[in-house]
Amino acid sequence: GKGAINNRMTNNLMRRLEEKGVPTHYVEEINDRDTFVKKVEIVPLEVIIRNTAAGSFSKRYGVPEGKKLPVTVLEFSYKNDDLGDPLMCESHALALKLVTKEQLETVKKYASIVNETLKEFFLEKGLKLIDFKIEFGLYDGEVILADEISPDTCRLWDVKTGEKMDKDRFRRDLGNVEETYAEVLKRVKND
Ligand code: TMP
Repeated sequence: GKGAINNRMTNNLMRRLEEKGVPTHYVEEINDRDTFVKKVEIVPLEVIIRNTAAGSFSKRYGVPEGKKLPVTVLEFSYKNDDLGDPLMCESHALALKLVTKEQLETVKKYASIVNETLKEFFLEKGLKLIDFKIEFGLYDGEVILADEISPDTCRLWDVKTGEKMDKDRFRRDLGNVEETYAEVLKRVKND
């Protein structure tokens, strides 16, 4: 049932982000598992925002997971499976012509709105947004938010218990994967 949950949740969040001024690929949810979206040319960058240390950031820099970061971290990876999606800085993305300077500024502006919107939204649902990954695409030459936003692409920790409510349950073999995804969707829908 994870696909249906992620479909619902992504669409719910995309609609919210549209209201906050972030253009997205979302057009219409057809049913549990199908959604009409604008067909974009994907920008080959994984855009990662971190509010709290976790995952690869904690590993790379030896920072304990859960440590609040004094600044919001914005990170890019090159979407390239053959190269293992390497971490990349802005000038690398420009040097490889993955984006123009203007598109990069737009990506950063939208990523920041997405973070502020989702942080506040999830907190109301008792979930702390630790970090997340988003992707953008080009549609009619404009940068728009695409792909998905779900517990597969966000780290969400329960505010009260600190319990992991995301894909780390699967990645780290913590159990209750289905139940957790269903619980996150329930909280997201109840508003
Ligand atoms: P990381 O700590 O493994 O770099 O992951 C940071 C965030 O990005 C986390 O919320 C999971 C998400 N993510 C994806 O959605 N897809 C990916 O391929 C990777 C590496 C991370």
